Amino acid sequence: MEITKDIKYVGVNDHDIDLFEGHYIVPEGMAYNSYLICDDKTAVMDSVDEHFTDEWIGKIKQELGGNDPDYIIIQHMEPDHSGSLKAFMNEFKGATAVASQKAFTMMANFFEGDCFEDRQLVVKEGDTLDLGSHTLSFIAAPMVHWPEVIMTYDAKDKVLFSADAFGRFGALDMIGETVKEDDDWACEARRYYFGIVGKYGAQAQAVLKKAADLDIEQICSLHGPIINEDLGYYLGIYDTWSKYESESEGVVIAYTSVYGHTKKAVEMLAEKLEKAGVPRVEVTDLARDDMAEAVEDAFRHDTVVFATTTFNNDVFPFMKEFIHSLTERNFQNKRVAFIENGSWAPQAGKVMKGMLEGCKNLTCCENEVHIVSALNDASRAELDALAAELAAAYK
Ligand code: FEO
Repeated sequence: MEITKDIKYVGVNDHDIDLFEGHYIVPEGMAYNSYLICDDKTAVMDSVDEHFTDEWIGKIKQELGGNDPDYIIIQHMEPDHSGSLKAFMNEFKGATAVASQKAFTMMANFFEGDCFEDRQLVVKEGDTLDLGSHTLSFIAAPMVHWPEVIMTYDAKDKVLFSADAFGRFGALDMIGETVKEDDDWACEARRYYFGIVGKYGAQAQAVLKKAADLDIEQICSLHGPIINEDLGYYLGIYDTWSKYESESEGVVIAYTSVYGHTKKAVEMLAEKLEKAGVPRVEVTDLARDDMAEAVEDAFRHDTVVFATTTFNNDVFPFMKEFIHSLTERNFQNKRVAFIENGSWAPQAGKVMKGMLEGCKNLTCCENEVHIVSALNDASRAELDALAAELAAAYK
């Protein structure tokens, strides 16, 4: 694939991975993107996962027709990108490794002390690298998504190499090499963003502010398709996510249910909200549905209803994991409501509220639902009241 006349795609697709980063299901596979900039000097942008070393080096050789690359720019040291770096440095003995000081420190840790000391070029924010007609400038992007990250801007072709930012789950031979109008890029990009970068909204904001000063025509991430159209949309949605603003009006009802009674209450609430015309109602079973999808839904919508049972004087484990996943990612700016169940000493509501008490700008609904084992007239009335309160918020 040609990004521009001088920039080629040399990345790979992974269809064998079971869990990306040991954590995320990737039903469409995963792409480890790498790019080659051809000029008087040639530069490779990042390596790929170690399982694809031979394929990747083969692509570079094919593009360069027997010439060795001059530089490899290491924007990010996470092994999905650095796993083939050592093999590259062994294969191309004349190449110089270009990275931040922190990246070289990490290299030594990953490669038993080897950080290519005699072939290093340390760069920092504002430094440039002249390839001939292309001058690359480096942008520090700490914690998007590791501390050593740099992004790279090519002013000639107006390309931003954005490291992990603007990434999306999915192999390019399944989802397409470039973004398409009819592809729901945001769905898997949002799951990726909130799962992987979500904790670092302030740092993502800082990088977006730097990017605002650049004239960008294409964004080349380390994952997912090249963004080469409608850049305002993609930059705007990243701005929304990293500010922790809700993207859509609607209610997510996240629940666990042991014997079905809490589930029944959740289904009744969802039906009432839909009948009342709430814009979107999403229901997720935290024990059975993808947790990362539930997390992205919670950040996406403006209201989250938490429904669970008391368990060991605490909350059911999947709800505990869910709330922890939200709070460690700075969950904030939401309307929240609670449905608790408990057969002899209900604690779930109190525990859930306690877990969320450090979150900024949460508005708790006045109405709560208290189920003692199974729904009855009293708890059904509480459900009616909560549904009415939530529906009124969208009127
Ligand atoms: Fe794609 Fe943070 O590694």
